[in-house]
Amino acid sequence: MELQQILLTSILLLSFANFGFSFPSQPQGNRKWHMTSDVKEVSGKSYDYIIVGGGTCGCPLAATLSQKFSVLLIERGGSPYGNPYVTERRYYGFPLIQTDKYMSVAQFFTSQDGVANVRGRVLGGSSAINGGFYSRASDEFVGKSGWDKKMVKEAYEWVESKVVFPPFFLSPWQSVAEFSLLESGVLPYNGYSLEHVKGTKISGSVFDAFGRRHTSADLLDAGNPKLLTVLVNATVKSIIFDHNGNKNETRAKGIRFIQSHGNLEQTHEAFIKKHNNSRRGDVILAAGALGSPQLLLLSGIGPKEQLKKFNIPLVLDMKNVGKGMQDNPCIAVLVDSKPQKRIPDPPQVAGITSDLKVIIEAAILPLSSNSTRVNVAAKLAFPSSRGFLELSNTDPRLNPSVRFNYLASEDDMEECVKMTQLLNKIARSKSIAFFLGESSQNKLASAEDDMRKFCKKNVRTIYHYHGGNLVGSVVDKDYKVYGVKGLRVLDGSTFSESPGTNPMATLLMLGRYQGIKILREREGVK
Ligand SMILES: Cc1cc2nc3c(=O)[nH]c(=O)nc-3n(C[C@H](O)[C@H](O)[C@H](O)COP(=O)(O)OP(=O)(O)OC[C@H]3O[C@@H](n4cnc5c(N)ncnc54)[C@H](O)[C@@H]3O)c2cc1C
Ligand SMILES: *[C@@H]1O[C@H](CO)[C@@H](O)[C@H](O)[C@H]1NC(C)=O
Ligand SMILES: *[C@@H]1O[C@H](CO)[C@@H](O)[C@H](O)[C@H]1NC(C)=O
Ligand SMILES: *[C@@H]1O[C@H](CO)[C@@H](O)[C@H](O)[C@H]1NC(C)=O
Ligand SMILES: *[C@@H]1O[C@H](CO)[C@@H](O)[C@H](O)[C@H]1NC(C)=O
Repeated sequence: MELQQILLTSILLLSFANFGFSFPSQPQGNRKWHMTSDVKEVSGKSYDYIIVGGGTCGCPLAATLSQKFSVLLIERGGSPYGNPYVTERRYYGFPLIQTDKYMSVAQFFTSQDGVANVRGRVLGGSSAINGGFYSRASDEFVGKSGWDKKMVKEAYEWVESKVVFPPFFLSPWQSVAEFSLLESGVLPYNGYSLEHVKGTKISGSVFDAFGRRHTSADLLDAGNPKLLTVLVNATVKSIIFDHNGNKNETRAKGIRFIQSHGNLEQTHEAFIKKHNNSRRGDVILAAGALGSPQLLLLSGIGPKEQLKKFNIPLVLDMKNVGKGMQDNPCIAVLVDSKPQKRIPDPPQVAGITSDLKVIIEAAILPLSSNSTRVNVAAKLAFPSSRGFLELSNTDPRLNPSVRFNYLASEDDMEECVKMTQLLNKIARSKSIAFFLGESSQNKLASAEDDMRKFCKKNVRTIYHYHGGNLVGSVVDKDYKVYGVKGLRVLDGSTFSESPGTNPMATLLMLGRYQGIKILREREGVK
């Protein structure tokens, strides 16, 4: 059928790609908004909205709210602009191997499971260090979330018109990965698609044809520069509350922050603006699946006993903060027998099994500045095991403690065995053998018992961790924190499952979507 056609196109693309010319670089964006790391510019000031975390969800939210209201976006990391490790596709994966405790754009952490992981620490958040793979959520996910389908579509399209690109060509390794998936029966072939559909597809990417990454920070270009203040290199320490005894009401009225490289005791404050003596706007946490639960805890919202342990004054006893943490178990096989020097290659092709339970992607990742490994990775889309997050200290710059409980349930273990069997088949496909020009492949487990051990030992992250402030348990359907006024959370911490093939698209969309909803909500009241 069409397979022949695919083959032909890909061979054409391959020879094109192998031609080896490079594209000129484009000038950096069209930035009119104000970015500063001078805390004095913000200290003591008031804004209609304060967004904590200039990440994947925070940036589109800030851009949207700034169309009508004054917005402070506060980010602990620095600027992504001018940092080639962030902006250049050919350095994909480099931030992950060059981490330090306080400054690097990727912050390293190890979960209590012993699995190494990272999270973004830069304006643009994890969209500045990730694989750039872009895929919308399924209709089921949108339905379950109770979102308005039409508004969701518009929000995706808004994002896509600004920072998402179809591949100009597939790299040789992505073409081979595509063939190996088809050869292994991951069908049908869907060609280029942004939808989450079973079979093999080519996705969109935040890397453009020039090999340049467009992080969520580029969406700030769509904001109103007159109403938008972006403070970088500043870490939020806690939320400031107002207690109104008469109305029995607790309201977020501002934030306390420090310079990221400064003294923990040298704090500054910013506030939600008062209109006619009352506050209408919100503090919105968009600090990510680790950052937002951590900030609620540091602010006195969480399980009473835990807060007491750290001498944090109780604002609201809420046992579900930090609960429901989840990371999709991932198994990656290295298909080349030893490190080589190749150009890093982010995933652009995905295979989704017919039961939608397993998602396969392939990449070339750097191990060091001059060596790479070629891998095929698969994740379980719907694991049942869940873990939890707790404070491990009171410094907002350091990681909280998190346990994901990978493969703790028997269901997850069984799925992992099936997933590994499929990975074996893909890794041993003719397409991959041909690409590598090797007859010897890494020895993979084969007996089922061995495979269980293999899963337990080799389970890793594909960085789609989520949860900690689940909808229905910490926040309501409008992402408002239960029991407190003027406080919302909007990021991956609210998800109980990872949306789409990969989650970034839906987090970008959600920032826009919820921004529009808040604007409409306020128009309605006026
Ligand atoms: C290495 C890697 C590869 C990935 N590959 C892909 C992919 O190819 N496709 C895909 O769809 N998804 C991918 N993901 C997942 C995806 O990038 C994340 O799920 C998503 O970006 C998370 O968005 P978020 O808004 O929840 O948090 P983030 O984007 O992480 O944003 C949180 C922001 O808050 C800031 N912050 C935290 N605490 C504070 C504080 N106290 N004060 C101030 N600021 C604070 C952080 O610095 C950060 O900028 C990948 C992730 C990683 C890490
Ligand atoms: C943020 O801090 C880093 C490290 O101190 C510095 O290099 C960078 O210039 C700062 N960013 C801005 C926008 O000032
Ligand atoms: C503030 O109050 C005045 C007088 O009551 C009213 O005219 C005005 O519309 C109010 N403004 C807002 C923003 O509510
Ligand atoms: C990378 O560089 C190191 C040190 O210069 C060298 O020992 C190693 O062989 C190199 N590896 C590759 C794959 O080129
Ligand atoms: C005050 O509000 C809290 C949380 O909303 C509620 O649990 C409590 O019962 C209220 N107390 C009174 C006296 O109304």
